[in-house]
Amino acid sequence: MTRIFGIVGYPIDHSLSPVMHGAAFRALGVEAIYAPFAVPPRDLRRALTALTRCGVAGLNVTVPHKEAVLRLLRRSGRVDAEAARVGAVNTLVRRSGRFVGYNTDVEGVRRTLREELRVNVSGKTVLILGAGGAARAVGWALLGLRPKAIWVMNRTYEKAIRLARWLDRRSRLWVAHGAAGYGVPTASRRYRRSELAAALAHADLFVNATSLGLREGDPLPLAPGAIHKRLVVMDLVYRAPTTALVAAARRRGALAVDGVPMLVYQGAESFRLWWRREPPLDVMRRAVMRALGNR
Ligand code: ATR
Repeated sequence: MTRIFGIVGYPIDHSLSPVMHGAAFRALGVEAIYAPFAVPPRDLRRALTALTRCGVAGLNVTVPHKEAVLRLLRRSGRVDAEAARVGAVNTLVRRSGRFVGYNTDVEGVRRTLREELRVNVSGKTVLILGAGGAARAVGWALLGLRPKAIWVMNRTYEKAIRLARWLDRRSRLWVAHGAAGYGVPTASRRYRRSELAAALAHADLFVNATSLGLREGDPLPLAPGAIHKRLVVMDLVYRAPTTALVAAARRRGALAVDGVPMLVYQGAESFRLWWRREPPLDVMRRAVMRALGNR
């Protein structure tokens, strides 16, 4: 019987997940389809109920539903511990007729740092630009890697403060439990070009977790002159052949990666949860690059 998978978001036309998972399913010869589901926020609860009843085997969840799905699942208590701690669900797995929520974005960030950039964040100073859901997953993933400090900068300053406080609380919680992410000093800063340049001079890793760069003609999030050679740049935005930020960073001699590996790794971890098999990473990445090139 054909198993049905998909992604729930709004809007959803831009998503590369159907292409990526479709290619992975074909490569492994599994009998399954992966469909995009455009679900407006007001219909989320009903849509999830309907998809559960229709026997859908697994889902990805994207903007703007990651937090809302967590809230809905919390009532039934079917949420993985890491997804509960990060406060967002991006993957649903059908178990005994009900969905269980997971977060594979966090592992996507960790694998990008480990396998793509090959950087050890321990003892390093990190600057995250952005304070939305993506920034939170990055911040959470970084906490466990024992950086020296995390700075959060955002256009809307209040949101930067909120995220920095959230990370600070999480990091203390870990201290209380004697676990890895011991009290990482976290601070928020206003998003001004001059302040960003000053902060970058002391940073080892810069993460762009804003949507800047998604659209043709978007300004760079920073002045290229502020990028130094020791800086590692991780852009969560993806474009073909790469983003303007990554191109600028490479021109400055910095190690830089765009959002493609993160997209592929989080998708691979979802695949692993659904199929309990090794995901075909190369196939997934090629499918994403091809689709990006055709845009
Ligand atoms: P996601 O879940 O992908 O993080 P989001 O929650 O909508 O999406 O967050 C988008 C991020 O990009 C926010 O940090 C946003 O800044 P605001 O909090 O001020 O809205 C940031 N962003 C979007 N457009 C931007 C722009 N033109 N300049 C600077 N930051 C921008």
